[in-house]
Amino acid sequence: MGVTTPPIVEVQGVDELRRELARRRAEGAARVGFVPTMGALHEGHAELVRTARAECDLVVTSCYVNPTQFAANEDLDRYPSTPERDLEVARDAGTDVLWRPRTEDIYGADPASAVGVVVGELGTVLEGRSRPGHFDGVATVVVRLLGAVTPDVLYLGRKDYQQLVVLRRVVRDLLLPVEVRAVDTVRGDDGLALSSRNAYLSPDERAAALAIPRALELAARLAAAGETDATRVRACAREHLDAAPGIDVDYVELVDADRLGPVAQLGGKGAAVFLVAARVGTTRLIDNRLLPAGDTTSTTAPPSTAPSSDREARP
Ligand code: PAJ
Repeated sequence: MGVTTPPIVEVQGVDELRRELARRRAEGAARVGFVPTMGALHEGHAELVRTARAECDLVVTSCYVNPTQFAANEDLDRYPSTPERDLEVARDAGTDVLWRPRTEDIYGADPASAVGVVVGELGTVLEGRSRPGHFDGVATVVVRLLGAVTPDVLYLGRKDYQQLVVLRRVVRDLLLPVEVRAVDTVRGDDGLALSSRNAYLSPDERAAALAIPRALELAARLAAAGETDATRVRACAREHLDAAPGIDVDYVELVDADRLGPVAQLGGKGAAVFLVAARVGTTRLIDNRLLPAGDTTSTTAPPSTAPSSDREARP
């Protein structure tokens, strides 16, 4: 009884968005959380929104399929679009303002500047190697979105682990006044990480795709059992994926969790992350699993009690 939640407000243009946000801030919304998405919303996106809802006074969710992060041969033209469902998912998870810009709202008629991910190898390894220019497009759009929303907190999923690391770095390097919060990957009951691209999978392809979470599980079990040789863990998981039918591996990598650089030993000081990219039919899927550092004395909390997001150094 008593508190009524204001209905979700939909906006399109940047001016309209800014007016709405100025009004809400003037009404007392001190902490604004922002969840950027490309729409086709699922429970993974909803978890980001719910986390923002729990931590902020006002939650802004954007749905915008950003063309600059897709290469010419990629799925921009067929990227799933579910606008009515997006409104429901965004609202039910706790979005206050749903921003659905058009390309002219984000890029204008004649954009003359972009953000380049130029720091070391971060943008050119893993996804960056398979999708050249991808992170430049991601960084450019996220900086523009942040410029329009000016949120206090940016919510990102660990599902896109390299994107998270790259964007943390962009925020740090460009001194953007926003806190970045990471949210754990939401999976289906079968273990497959939720992704808008799962909509492309036939039932057979979905079954084949389960080799990915199984490979992640295998790597995590080996590491938990005390295997410290990163090459061996990677090779075992790779073998599992290569033997699985209907799946074509792009990469299987074990790297350090902060810089995404090579790692030889597991269970040492820093956490590692095990990442897989693979094609099932025409659908490219990515997934990852963090392998914790081995030398801490404070890792006794069972996973079920761990928060689904954090504000520590851990990406
Ligand atoms: P999109 O793929 O729609 O994802 C939006 C956000 O949801 C990202 O932060 C992503 O990591 C997170 N997410 C996706 N699947 C998830 C899952 N199963 N569990 C938890 N979080 C999940 O990532 C993008 O869009 C774009 O690159 C974007 C950042 C919006 C820039 O265009």
